[in-house]
Amino acid sequence: MGLDDRRDREPDVYQPAEDSALLARAACDRVGENELVLEVGTGSGFVAGRIADETDARVIASDVNPWAVRQARRTDVETVRADLVAPFRDGTFDAVVFNPPYLPTDPENEWDDWMERALSGGEDGRAVIDPFLETVDRVLAPDGVVYLLVSSLTGVDDVVGRAGEEGFSAVAIADESFPFETLTVLELLR
Ligand SMILES: C[S@@+](CC[C@H](N)C(=O)[O-])C[C@H]1O[C@@H](n2cnc3c(N)ncnc32)[C@H](O)[C@@H]1O
Repeated sequence: MGLDDRRDREPDVYQPAEDSALLARAACDRVGENELVLEVGTGSGFVAGRIADETDARVIASDVNPWAVRQARRTDVETVRADLVAPFRDGTFDAVVFNPPYLPTDPENEWDDWMERALSGGEDGRAVIDPFLETVDRVLAPDGVVYLLVSSLTGVDDVVGRAGEEGFSAVAIADESFPFETLTVLELLR
């Protein structure tokens, strides 16, 4: 699919941006041959599509937003509607990739539309990241890894600390700075 083709876009879906491109590059550089990869929160399907196109991995994508699932399916990546990793089997994936909603948001703002749910990480920016870190271990294969995009706005050290509490060690494998934030891709290993 040409992601620049606006006819292919669903209106309530996060479209690829700098964070998507950074995560896709980092994941493509590291995903190994014949691995099984899950992209959580696939949005347009851009990251999952890049991994499927540029590696020999088998890729599955998921999103809680039904419009995202609809758009991502046009990339030909197998996509399912899911809340984080809930429906997936234990010990399945060699890599799990996630560009989460991470912007700290005023508590008065409610998650009342799909774009809000794509962007807002609640008051501390970690309202989706924390439950992801608490549950992702279950679906990882024995040597499985997580590639998680985080922002300086969310607090990279806080995320690394939370990941540590869940048994992961974290290494920053890519970053990119912008006027208002620095984006970092963390590789989480057990
Ligand atoms: C910042 S967007 C990233 C989209 C895409 N992966 C990219 O990089 O362009 C975050 C995505 O996570 C999805 N999301 C938010 N909460 C989720 C949850 N609990 N389970 C699954 N997906 C979720 C949103 O619908 C949105 O598509």
